[in-house]
Amino acid sequence: MTSGASTETAAAGAAAPTPQRVGVPREIFAGEKRVATVPEAAAKLIKLGFQVVVESGAGELANFSDDDYRAVGASIAGSAAELWSGCDIVFKVRGPTPDEVALMHEGQTLIGFIWPAQNPELMQQLAEKKVTALSIDALPRTLSRAQKMDALTSMAGVSGYRAVVEAANAFGRFFNGQITAAGKVPPAKVFIAGAGVAGLAAVGAAASLGAIVRANDTRAEVADQVVSLGGEFVKVDYEEEGSGGGGYAKVMSEGFQQAQREMYAKQAREVDIIITTALIPGKPAPRLITAEMVRSMKPGSVIVDMAAEQGGNCELTEPGQAVVKHGVTIVGYTDLASRMAQQSSTLYANNLFRLSEELCKTKDGVINVNMEDDAIRGLTVVKDGEITWPAPPLAAAPKPPAKPVAAPAAKKGHGHGEASGPMPAGKLAIVACVTAVLFVLVGSYAPAEFLSHFTVFVLACFVGYMVVWNVKPALHTPLMSVTNAISSIIAIGALVQISPLADAADRPNLLIGILAAVALVLTAINMFGGFAVTQRMLAMFRK
Ligand code: NAI
Repeated sequence: MTSGASTETAAAGAAAPTPQRVGVPREIFAGEKRVATVPEAAAKLIKLGFQVVVESGAGELANFSDDDYRAVGASIAGSAAELWSGCDIVFKVRGPTPDEVALMHEGQTLIGFIWPAQNPELMQQLAEKKVTALSIDALPRTLSRAQKMDALTSMAGVSGYRAVVEAANAFGRFFNGQITAAGKVPPAKVFIAGAGVAGLAAVGAAASLGAIVRANDTRAEVADQVVSLGGEFVKVDYEEEGSGGGGYAKVMSEGFQQAQREMYAKQAREVDIIITTALIPGKPAPRLITAEMVRSMKPGSVIVDMAAEQGGNCELTEPGQAVVKHGVTIVGYTDLASRMAQQSSTLYANNLFRLSEELCKTKDGVINVNMEDDAIRGLTVVKDGEITWPAPPLAAAPKPPAKPVAAPAAKKGHGHGEASGPMPAGKLAIVACVTAVLFVLVGSYAPAEFLSHFTVFVLACFVGYMVVWNVKPALHTPLMSVTNAISSIIAIGALVQISPLADAADRPNLLIGILAAVALVLTAINMFGGFAVTQRMLAMFRK
């Protein structure tokens, strides 16, 4: 463990053995307002056993004062040099500059946005310094337990929202339609290109402001999400699946791109605002909005090009600038998350705290960069001076069953990647035959009442199967919780029917009574638990 020379200690952390020091320097990248840890997260880190040291003024641009950090038990370092030399772990937003790397020392751990593919020189410098670097952008996003650490998602969410705010700022009209004494105002029409994390956040924000929102993405699987956030999904009139795996898109065929350009040209003529977020990782941003389309837009219209940093989705975007061309304001800001520094810093700090929990499972303020852990392995781009990026691919997740190629009738109205479709005719015939044989066998040997119950049971299985089979995988959890509750009601009915408690003559049989009571308690847990979970899930969609 290292210690700072003149670090002002406001409160010592918990009395864990040799707690490590987490340092939070001031971001020095021009215009960067975010800070890697906010006081609330610092308090949680201290609870986890760490000491937290913040460079004086680090949180100022995100509205967190030195006193706010002191109040939760963090220390304030007077200078960057003091902070970097006195800390075992450094939390940053942007990757370090060469000057910052020079302040690092062997054995130190750095966590932040390093973008290893784009910054080979920085990677080399970090390796030479014999440090360990965890690049938050390299998190394997497909691991569901990694979601709480997914800073790319939290930053894109903030940026999508801010893109709408920027559009509203540059647009000279209301978003919602109004009927006033002074006249009728039509609602603004917003078109969102690319419905990934940022695009969906933009759909939600624009719809909540009252605009008519349309969105398009090459991955048809996002259509339902667009609709659930209050938008309308506009399809390209060309059959081609756009998923490239891992939740990302693939480069589309020339035929698709042509059809897409035609549809985008039509939207450009109709809408007031276009927000573009289309991106395929590792590729230049697809050019979706041509100069011709910009020219066709109504004067006063706005384009916010979120992909400006990757070359822009719009031909006329100038990265980092808001410019007016052909009467259309084109916003190409590349710092949208930083423009909401308080919010994005809070979310980012929470992502890093969750990561710290994963790194410090012993809760004693000492991290363990466990390379056996898939999430940690993915993040670790330099380990003790050795470049460990890129991580080996994760063990393949089970693939969804391949869709039958020739099943045209089932496709209409369902879209791609939705329902699994009805059972094929051949399989259905086999199931029908087996069921018929079963019925004949049961009918010949079982008592008459059993046969009627058995018929209901088989029909219930069939109906249940057909219903569940056609439900989209995303809705399986809420469906399960409701069916849990409903099946429990059926269980109570069954219990009443078979329970000898209903018959006074059998009442003395204590064992059956106790068993029935226990079964009822368990069933009640299942039933009320099912409803409670459903209720909580529905609450997530209520405002
Ligand atoms: P994402 O990968 O979640 O979403 C990108 C979406 O674009 C995907 O849904 C993909 O299917 C879609 N797409 C790809 N090619 C397309 C095409 N040809 N036509 C239509 N859709 C297409 O990415 P995320 O996190 O939502 O970020 C979106 C963009 O915003 C990225 O360019 C990212 O770098 C940028 N960004 C910009 C910020 C800023 O300050 N300007 C801040 C955060 C993100």
